[in-house]
Amino acid sequence: MSSIEDLDYPQLILQYNSGFLVSKVMFTACELGVFDLLLETGEAMSSDTIAACLGTSSTGMERLLDACVGLKLLAVELTQEGVFYRNTEISNIYLTKSSPKSQYHIIMYYSNSVYLCWHYLTDAVREGRNQYERAFGVSSNDPFGAMYRSEEEMMKFMAGQNSVWSICGRDVLAAFDLSTFTQIYDLGGGGGALAQECVSLYPNSRITIYDLPKVVQVAKKQFIPPEEHRIAFHSGDFFNDSIPEAELYILSKILHDWDDDKCRQLLTKVYTACKPGGGVLLVESLLNEDKSGPLETQLYSMNMLVQTEGKERTSAEYSKLLEAAGFGDIQVKRTGKLYDAVLGRKE
Ligand SMILES: C[S@@+](CC[C@H](N)C(=O)[O-])C[C@H]1O[C@@H](n2cnc3c(N)ncnc32)[C@H](O)[C@@H]1O
Repeated sequence: MSSIEDLDYPQLILQYNSGFLVSKVMFTACELGVFDLLLETGEAMSSDTIAACLGTSSTGMERLLDACVGLKLLAVELTQEGVFYRNTEISNIYLTKSSPKSQYHIIMYYSNSVYLCWHYLTDAVREGRNQYERAFGVSSNDPFGAMYRSEEEMMKFMAGQNSVWSICGRDVLAAFDLSTFTQIYDLGGGGGALAQECVSLYPNSRITIYDLPKVVQVAKKQFIPPEEHRIAFHSGDFFNDSIPEAELYILSKILHDWDDDKCRQLLTKVYTACKPGGGVLLVESLLNEDKSGPLETQLYSMNMLVQTEGKERTSAEYSKLLEAAGFGDIQVKRTGKLYDAVLGRKE
């Protein structure tokens, strides 16, 4: 809502105009390793020392550090010896690579992939399609083919997707009591961070990560510790290959990648495979029913436009897709964080 002050001086518009500058400052400080260095040394450092350690110009580093202070990602101390910078608590926890709650990998994915696709947002809106061709010169007909244009890009995507579950995983898995389901398939389970949360929250569960062969290969080798025997793997294409029988299927951030036809096709296969009395757990960021928000989800939906074939949906839209596939007794839980949970049952 605009107030008189907004009309006199457009604070909000100016803030939005600089929105991407804010993102880019955080991306750059992460990419250069500013927060990692300050965590490692454990003491406040001068701009010149940070620049020397990270191999950057002094003038560029000083400006970057000052902008990070403005964003509350760094704190500054003025002493007789000069100006010294240190991490704020939030940066230590979320922006350093080694922290258990690190968001570093998703930030790097935004900086190196999402940002480039968003450069073509106007084209995406005009054409109603993803922008891989313009951004990376790769065919945009198969979004995951484009996303996984090299093994390095695939690893970065998987690490990025994993990041969010250290801050939201428990909430989506505890939204419903899933302890009665012991045989679980995580369809499109990727790097497996949610599967790891699942076996830690429900120690009696056995979960199989089902994903494309090259994803499974990397998940097995790089992401899931070999001693984690409660997690198994299944290589397959959930549109073209069979889906094995299980009690519960988790589809986390899967349906938002696809249009309604593909979602119905996939959910129907899941319903057919599901044991009677079993269910499906959708983990998605839910739009308000009138699509008035949350803003983060509206922005994610734009991101689905520039990167995939899908969109974010309301809980009523997900319920309709589930019902069309045969699922009933649909329950919705909003977690208040980025991702929510929808549970459907097979009678
Ligand atoms: C947006 S990511 C979500 C990853 C994970 N579920 C999470 O929540 O972090 C979508 C996942 O679906 C997988 N995927 C895409 N198409 C697939 C297909 N046809 N068959 C199996 N998995 C697929 C991708 O490899 C990727 O791991």
